[in-house]
Parts: sequence; structure tokens; C-alpha cells
Amino acid sequence: MKILGIETSCDETSVAIVEDGRNVLSLKTASSLDLHALTGGIIPEEAARKQVEFMLPTLEAALLPFAKSKRLKDLHSVIEKDIDAIAVTSGPGLIGSLLVGVETAKTLALVFNKPLIPINHVYAHIYGAFLGDTQPEFPAVVAVVSGGHTEFIYMTGHGEYEIIGGTRDDAAGEAFDKCARVLGLNYPGGPAISKAAKISRDKNEGPYNLFPRPLANAPTNDVSFSGLKTSVINHVKTLPEEFSRDRIAAEVEEAICGSLLTKIERICVEKRPKSLIFCGGVSANARVRELLNSLIENVGFPIALHVPQMPYTTDNAAMVASCAYYLNQPERIEDITAHPEWSL
Ligand code: KG4
Ligand code: ZN
Repeated sequence: MKILGIETSCDETSVAIVEDGRNVLSLKTASSLDLHALTGGIIPEEAARKQVEFMLPTLEAALLPFAKSKRLKDLHSVIEKDIDAIAVTSGPGLIGSLLVGVETAKTLALVFNKPLIPINHVYAHIYGAFLGDTQPEFPAVVAVVSGGHTEFIYMTGHGEYEIIGGTRDDAAGEAFDKCARVLGLNYPGGPAISKAAKISRDKNEGPYNLFPRPLANAPTNDVSFSGLKTSVINHVKTLPEEFSRDRIAAEVEEAICGSLLTKIERICVEKRPKSLIFCGGVSANARVRELLNSLIENVGFPIALHVPQMPYTTDNAAMVASCAYYLNQPERIEDITAHPEWSL
């Protein structure tokens, strides 16, 4: 079964064709990230305008490898003949951005008479880990860790899950972004902090335990990141000269990744799942991957770790199409609308 996925919840315009939930046949993503790097963060209206500009060219680019020619007729025939269903992120996200994808998907579904499956973006991130040869087994402990969300989930099947912890305030990716800004690093902050941190790590400047890890010792599955930015601001003012920006970046990275891992370990020990899935934009982080590997090696019972391949860590339409395959819940076109606040 081939599903055409569309993702436009924030600053990426992404279209994919995925077969049977795991084989990515086509994935094209355009991003307005460069524009937001100039302002140090996303301006929703600008992101929405870029979605309008990128939507149809990205759709065409994703269909092109399967079309006889670039002509509209041939592109249409790919949807008509090869696509079984259409999936679209309908929330949560920025309303203007979401609308572009949702209305495009509804139009295609109507014109080509295809089932349309609305998808929750946070839930879709989990399916980044289902793309490829090895699929996670249930029960699974899942950490969805992105710029907008940090949720710990216990999953017993597709569409069967329970939220068992998460952030009480900022998302982990948001903490990376805010701290990067304080350090004068570019948006998005995660990759920038990670790059700077590596320089310090290569010089063996650790251990890194400058910043507090709130709730680390508390009997809860929750994390909190809202105090980290203030800590960074205070320390940057008072630190001796030899504390380079790279070293503070490594401190930030260690504080965020360490906080996450403490709770993930706690949950794994309690739940003893078959799989551990860590997904969302922060799963691109090399340090968090290292800590996850060491967790499953040392936890004392077998857990299979599943982290999405790099192209499926940050926002992409392949995870949306995969999610739709496993959920398989089409809805009436007229009932589908953008839900900016749609929580899991
Ligand atoms: O999943 P995503 O693309 O968008 C949301 O749904 O939010 O995640 C974007 C977030 C940003 O906060 C970005 O700083 C973070 O993921 N991120 C990283 C890395 N790459 C992206 N954080 C840490 N290390 C990275 N290498
Ligand atoms: Zn996302």
C-alpha cells in the first residue's frame, strides 16, 4: 500500500510516498529555516507564506520520479494510479502552516477520490523509527523529544498508548534553542550547540556538571527545562575566561541529555519494555544517542533501541505516511480541519 504523506506543521514543507509504512519511495522537504535563522526564531506568518510558496513545487518534486514527464497530466496520473491513500499532519502546529498542508491534502483527496487520514504530528514522530528494515516491537517506551514537545509514552500497540511523563514546562529542543541564543549561536540551537559541544568534548574538558537537573532525584517521570536558560545567563556572567563557549555548550547538552536519560532509565526499569524508541528532532543529537546506547547495555535486561535514521529525526512527511499506514483511520474530508492545539 502506497501512502502520500504531507507535513507542513511548522517551517518544513515535506511530501513523501511510503510503501507499507516502512519503505520510503520518495521524500522531498523544503524548509524556511534559513529565514528564521536571520531572526533567531520562527515568525509564524513568514513560515506560513513560505509554506504557500513551497507546497506545490515540493509535491511535484516528490511525484516526479514516478511520472513519465514533468507535465501536470503525468504528475496527476501518479496520484491517480499509484497512490492508495493520502495522509496529512492536521495538528498540533502553527495554524497558518498547518492549513496549507491540510487544504492541499483535502483537495487532492477530493479530486482523485482517495481516502484521507489526518495525523497528529507528535504521534507521527514515533513512526520515524518504523521507517526502514527493523520495526520496533511492543510494548515500547517512547520518548518524543522535539522543539515543541517532550513526552514519555508507554505504547502497547499502534494507536494504543498512555502518556507517562514529560516536560512540565519547556520542550528539550526549545531548551537547546533558547540556550543557544544566550550563547550567540544560530537557530536552530540543537545542531549549533551539538557542534560547539563536540569541540569541547574532543578536548576532554568534562565532566560536565555545571548546570542543575531539576527533578532528577524526585519520584516522578517528569523533566523541567525552563530554569536552564536563566542558569546559563547567570553563569555566562560570572564564569572565568577559560570557560569557552564550546565548554558551556557541552554543559548545556549534558544537562539536557542527562535529564532526559535519568527519566528514560527510570521508566524502562519500571516498565521493562521490549523496545525503547527515542524520536523527534533531538534524536539527531549524537550525545543523546551515545547515552541511550550505554543505557540499554547497562540496564540489566534486553531492550532494543530504535532511533530514527537521520532524515527522519526532524520534521518530515515520511513519518506521517508511515503513521497513517499503521493507524489506517481515514476520515470524511469535510470533517478534517487544522487543529493547532491537538494534544496526544
Ligand atoms: O521535530 P522537530 O524538527 O520539530 C518539532 O516538531 O519541534 O524538532 C526540532 C528541534 C529543534 O528544537 C532543534 O534545535 C532540535 O530539534 N534539534 C536538535 C538537533 N537537531 C535538531 N537538538 C539537539 N541536537 C541536535 N543535533
Ligand atoms: Zn516535529
